[in-house]
Amino acid sequence: MAKRLHIKTYGCQMNEYDSSRMADILVPLGYETTDNPKDADLVILNTCHIREKAAEKVYSEIGRLRLMKDHRQQNGEEMMIAIGGCVAQAQGEEIMRRAPAVDMVFGPQSYQALPELIEKAKLAKNNKPSARPVAMDFASQDKFDRLPAQTSQNGVSAFLTIQEGCDKFCTFCVVPYTRGAEHSRPVSEIIAEARRLVAAGAADITLLGQNVNAYAGDDGSGQPARLGELMTQLADLDGLSRIRYTTSHPRDVDDALIAAHGDIEKIMPYLHLPVQSGSDRILEAMNRKHTADDYRAIVARLRAARPDLALSSDFIVGFPGETDRDFDHTMDLVRDITYAQAYSFKYSPRPGTPAAELTDQVAEDVKTRRLSILQDELRLQQNAFNEATVGKVLPVLFEKPGRHEGQWVGRSPYMQAVAVDGAAAAGASAGMEAQVEITGLHAISLAGRLVSSVDTDREAVAS
Ligand code: SAH
Ligand code: SF4
Ligand code: F3S
Repeated sequence: MAKRLHIKTYGCQMNEYDSSRMADILVPLGYETTDNPKDADLVILNTCHIREKAAEKVYSEIGRLRLMKDHRQQNGEEMMIAIGGCVAQAQGEEIMRRAPAVDMVFGPQSYQALPELIEKAKLAKNNKPSARPVAMDFASQDKFDRLPAQTSQNGVSAFLTIQEGCDKFCTFCVVPYTRGAEHSRPVSEIIAEARRLVAAGAADITLLGQNVNAYAGDDGSGQPARLGELMTQLADLDGLSRIRYTTSHPRDVDDALIAAHGDIEKIMPYLHLPVQSGSDRILEAMNRKHTADDYRAIVARLRAARPDLALSSDFIVGFPGETDRDFDHTMDLVRDITYAQAYSFKYSPRPGTPAAELTDQVAEDVKTRRLSILQDELRLQQNAFNEATVGKVLPVLFEKPGRHEGQWVGRSPYMQAVAVDGAAAAGASAGMEAQVEITGLHAISLAGRLVSSVDTDREAVAS
């Protein structure tokens, strides 16, 4: 009988990609995925360490799993518990000490070793607990070299990691410590993976990296290709109709990347470009190495290249030393740029990062107040952006049937979910695109009606 695998993923899209790759590795070992951890022979928690209580959440989840593991053992069944991802990288040894139910721990650059880790963990069962395996190497290219072909992602939208790690060391952030140094995969490897994703049904690919626009992968001649160049090559792939990338850093937006937004139609006009703060003083203390005006200038150039570009960002409020005045600068920037969507967080001191050591930490109630002011503004901007699309005709890429009879749900170029009534009767299916007039707003999606026939070109390509 097939063994069953349950993966629970926390954190960013790179973790989602990694989870799909863990499943790829385990398929040849006879594992099938299950949504229910109670049925699983192997449970992997792919963890995130970015903000507070991350580790506590992992321990409480381990506690729940331990009960399931005991229950399975009483029934003569097994359950192995594996902790992967960024908490594992940061606190692996401690997890092993504190949680005897955990069979193995591995970091984000070590999951290619899963088959060996499972073998070692089985041996460890009959041995002393300290023999349980811990894998923490930063071996990014070795990881990609050893991964089998992607098979777990077969939807219309797919993720493709092109770059790992971060050398930026923003003073608030754990990522450089949990993911290691920047590393870019070679162009040929990325193109080959994109081809396989398209053959499996992907039409919209999001290129991933902690600093995706720091990409500098071998172009085949030993020279580094930048992101703009990589996307130019990807745009030649038949069947791939939409290209996105995330997360980018303002410092690494170069001329070629800006030009690509104007030249390559397949690059979607929606960009996540985190700024974190609008105060130069705070940006400097964060080690972002750009000012608020640098950011305004980059956005202006991107919008000149692609006038309909919609923007998204991340913000941190209450970074140590942030005054009301600093926060006002953030609000000014938000009003200047106008975002289609954004994420905002209270600053959370992370162990081992420089900002956590600063003495002028901001009081919790001040953070709460600033966050709510910021989020109110961002919500207004998001609603205004969505309302402005009502009445427009947009290309919608269908992903799945909607909740209502005959309805299909797809995405606009700006990442908005659009529910289109009557699309099934017009021949909609996953991966097809149609022109849709946006007719109104639902709570979390837009409503639309078809104004063109469904484009079946992609089917011709795929067959
Ligand atoms: N590489 C990306 C972001 C990675 S982390 C970039 O450079 O922008 C995702 C987001 O989490 C960050 O953009 C930041 O807004 C938030 N974040 C990271 N560390 C944080 C911390 N210590 N407290 C609060 N938010 C944090
Ligand atoms: Fe973290 Fe800064 Fe690197 Fe982004 S650029 S991952 S925020 S250190
Ligand atoms: Fe979290 Fe690690 Fe991603 S800390 S945000 S899972 S890089």
